[in-house]
Amino acid sequence: MAASRKQATGSVDEATAEEEPRVLEPGAAPFGNFPHYSRFHPPEQRLRLLPPELLRRLFPQSPETRPILGLDVGCNSGDLSVALYKHFLSLHDGETCSDASRELHLLCCDIDPVLVERAEKECPFPDGLTFITLDFMNQKTRKVLLSSFLSQFGRSVFDIGFCMSITMWIHLNHGDQGLWEFLAHLSSLCRYLLVEPQPWKCYRAAARRLRKLGLHDFDHFRSLAIRGDMANQIVQILTQDHGMEFVCCFGNTSWDRSLLLFRAKQTTETHPIPESLIEEGKERNRLRFWRQMGGLEDQGRY
Ligand SMILES: C[S@@+](CC[C@H](N)C(=O)[O-])C[C@H]1O[C@@H](n2cnc3c(N)ncnc32)[C@H](O)[C@@H]1O
Repeated sequence: MAASRKQATGSVDEATAEEEPRVLEPGAAPFGNFPHYSRFHPPEQRLRLLPPELLRRLFPQSPETRPILGLDVGCNSGDLSVALYKHFLSLHDGETCSDASRELHLLCCDIDPVLVERAEKECPFPDGLTFITLDFMNQKTRKVLLSSFLSQFGRSVFDIGFCMSITMWIHLNHGDQGLWEFLAHLSSLCRYLLVEPQPWKCYRAAARRLRKLGLHDFDHFRSLAIRGDMANQIVQILTQDHGMEFVCCFGNTSWDRSLLLFRAKQTTETHPIPESLIEEGKERNRLRFWRQMGGLEDQGRY
């Protein structure tokens, strides 16, 4: 089958992967809710760009601030969520760690209940990851479910939000305003944000896929004014409109998606970054900071 053949060669073309029609019923993934997404975009491709000590360095722990709280929006069937959890806690396959859920807890949400059910069933760290069905664009449900999770920890914001390969689906289904609001909500909810935007060629591929299936275009595709260099567009929205600052780009995956880290300029629960590690706004020092953290690659594009 095409999917497994592509996986075996490891040379997945991003644009065709996300439009992969053979593993789906026609039109069955209008939100990017592909049932085997990690076959096309394996978690390892992203993890190799992220230093395992990232969270420990961003959030030097004191007992009152434990655990680090993460929000994974659009978690699909949880493969990347689990991989991130293991990566940041340096856990290996089959290894369990009794302290893990005291160090890091991830709330992972997806609009598709079938994917969430599978994620829950297959999660090897049920104490450390919570999966919920949530349409993140539904303001009422979002507020109730996220507040209820945060209040269990006596917190009002997440330490970090993961927003991996979801921006295009929000954009196509909710338009420019929807993307802008999505990023606004995330930036008000998270002290740090790691975003992996889909490039514009993926939008064209997603629209082409619908046409091939004889379905209507996405409602908003033709009218989107936010287009072109999507990574740059998202940097602009987050930094100019939503009070975040761009920290760094960790590099690009082999399917040409960049991993961008942002930090809220102000949140209610901000822990200052140690002066020795970073001096705000100074590119030279920012680069040094990330190099200290493990030879990170800043593309210098933004
Ligand atoms: C392309 S997949 C990415 C999965 C995973 N984040 C990764 O990068 O491997 C996008 C996911 O976002 C979910 N999604 C799309 N719109 C959503 C929404 N409004 N609320 C929550 N999840 C959504 C889809 O169901 C899908 O599982």
